[in-house]
Order: sequence, then structure tokens, then C-alpha cells
Amino acid sequence: MKIAIVGATGLVGRKMIDCLKKYKYCNENIELFSSNKSSGSIIKIGKNNIVVKELKHDNLSKKYDYVLFSAGASVSRLWAKEFVKRGAVVIDNSSAFRRGKRPLVVPEINANTITPNTKIIANPNCSTIGVCLPLFALSREYKIISILVSTYQAVSGAGKTAIDDLKHGTTNKLYYKIKNNLIPQIDIALKDGYTFEENKMEYELKKILGSKSIKIASTCVRVPIINCHSECVNVKLNKRPNIKRIKRIFSDFEGIKVIDDLPDNKYPMPILANGKNDILVGRIRIDHSDKNSINFFVCFDNLLKGAALNAVQIMDYLVNNKKIYNK
Ligand SMILES: NC(=O)c1ccc[n+]([C@@H]2O[C@H](COP(=O)([O-])OP(=O)(O)OC[C@H]3O[C@@H](n4cnc5c(N)ncnc54)[C@H](OP(=O)(O)O)[C@@H]3O)[C@@H](O)[C@H]2O)c1
Repeated sequence: MKIAIVGATGLVGRKMIDCLKKYKYCNENIELFSSNKSSGSIIKIGKNNIVVKELKHDNLSKKYDYVLFSAGASVSRLWAKEFVKRGAVVIDNSSAFRRGKRPLVVPEINANTITPNTKIIANPNCSTIGVCLPLFALSREYKIISILVSTYQAVSGAGKTAIDDLKHGTTNKLYYKIKNNLIPQIDIALKDGYTFEENKMEYELKKILGSKSIKIASTCVRVPIINCHSECVNVKLNKRPNIKRIKRIFSDFEGIKVIDDLPDNKYPMPILANGKNDILVGRIRIDHSDKNSINFFVCFDNLLKGAALNAVQIMDYLVNNKKIYNK
């Protein structure tokens, strides 16, 4: 099987390589691509030392099975179809293909939106993936009326240059200095007073939860943390919530781990989520301002379930359903 990673030298690309190892794909035929900046570097996968190639036509093989993209939306728009022409199913981490009819997939929720003809599958934005697992779990027992999310997003969500900005007090990637600061803007400003990151949350949650009628708003904030996003979530339900039952709904759902014992000072935190596959959920409680609403707090590794792990899980799903889904 031929697998390629485009953006293999980035934060997400390197985690994709780790996930390919975890999911036992390291003995497959793997090609790694980057820009010309990192091309020539060597990455060991299993027993093989793989030379990273610059993404250009001369360096492409004739045939691919699965290609994981993680090099930004403009690279995906330019190159994804070239790999599809070479037989690949593309799983794309950028925002290039999330809108419209293409599947936007979190395997635990909607892998069934992939059909035998699907050639490009979009990975949702990291901040969306973190909340959609608990929200989907809730939606199986309650009707969700509205969702309010406030995010606390780590700098790793903006790539390796943003980590350097935090470490060195520079502003090469982020709008302002992030050291000793918070920035209530992620991605570009839109005309309605929201940012594109907040717009992604609203659009993508509706698409993944399969409901246009849920009302959603968010405030997305960059915080001076290297890795792991946190999100404070308020959800209005159609009936009185039973907190004990909701804790059970969350803990029974694959990919969620409940850490919720406030008297014992136990709740999700970035230091607990770092390097973990699960979405951590805690501080689950009734909203004192509205008896039909609950509040909870999530933390998750944005580079893993928020990006690389979800992409490799999609690929793994396709490989395991090859007879149905692959050409
Ligand atoms: N970080 C997250 O938490 C996260 C979560 C979800 C989605 N994403 C998305 O994933 C993508 C990558 O994010 P990242 O955090 O890994 O960024 P990053 O650390 O900045 O890495 C970017 C990668 O893309 C490569 N690249 C840049 N321009 C290229 C080109 N013209 N042709 C081929 N490769 C090129 C870079 O190669 P060089 O090493 O040569 O520069 C590097 O491998 C973005 O679309 C981002 O929105 C990120």
C-alpha cells in the first residue's frame, strides 16, 4: 500500500507519522513531502530512513492509495486533485474542502458519510473536533437547542512558527506577542464581528451533527500554552438535564474520558491531555442561569485527535472497509 504525507515536517505531519506507527502502517510504502525548505531531511519510520521530498511533479509516483495533507489550504487546493488522479483517496487537514457536499469526518460520528466514490475527505478544524464528540454523544439522548463555546487554544494550533513566537516573544505567525498575553482573534476577521475560526466552528458543528437548526456561537482565543486546546461549553437542551446520566453518556462514548471530581480537584487540563488520544471532559454541571442548560469543560491534544490522529483514524477506517470503500 502506498501512503504519502504532504506537510510531513510540520507539527501535524510529524504526529501523523507517529500515528501511522501506532496504527501499524510503518512497513507500508510511505512517501513524505514538504516545501523546498525541509526537503532532503531524513525521517525514520520503522526500519526505513525516508528522505523528505519537495512537493513537485517530478517527485510524484504514478500511483498512491492514501495521501494525508497537512500543509495549509492553498497547498491542498493546488495538489489534492493531482494525487486523486494518481488513484489516491486524500484526507485533508486544511480548511480547503470542509464546506459543501464533501464528507467532513470524525470516524466515531459520521464515517458513514463516506461513499465508494469519495476521493477527498476533509478533517474538521481542531477546535471543532474537540467539542463535537461530547455534543454528538449528548445529541443521541437530548435535543440540542443551542451551543455557546469559549476556546482557549494553544499556539501549536497555528503551526511550528507560532510555538517559536511563544518561546521567543516574536510575532512571525500570530497577530500580537502571545507571551504573557491572550489574543481573542484566531484567523481572519469577518464582516459580522466574528473570526473565520469562529465561523468554522459554527459551520462544521452543524454539518457534523447533521442539524441546521442548532444555534451556535463561539469566541475563540489564543492562549500562551504550547499544546492542547481547552474549551468551555454551554449547551441548552430540550428538557431538564440529568447530570449523573450525562456523565454516563460521556464516559460511555468512545474517545471521551471523563475527569470530573471538583471536591478532589480533578478536572481536564492541558497537562493531562498532552500526548493523549482521548477528549477529556469535566466540570459537568447545571447552568445556574438556565435550568435546561449545562456547562462543561474539555481539553484535548489538538495535534492528535484535533488533527493527525483523526486523519489516520479515517484512513484506518477506509483500509478496514476496503472492499466497500476503495476502488
Ligand atoms: N496545528 C494544529 O493543531 C492543526 C489542527 C488542525 C488542522 N491543522 C492544519 O494542518 C495544516 C498544517 O498545520 P501545522 O500545524 O502542521 O503547520 P506547520 O507546523 O507550519 O507545518 C506546515 C507543513 O507544511 C509544509 N509546507 C508548507 N508549504 C508547503 C508547500 N508549498 N508545499 C509542500 N509543503 C509545504 C511545511 O514544510 P517545511 O517544513 O518545508 O516548511 C510543513 O511540513 C494547516 O492546514 C493547519 O490549518 C493544524
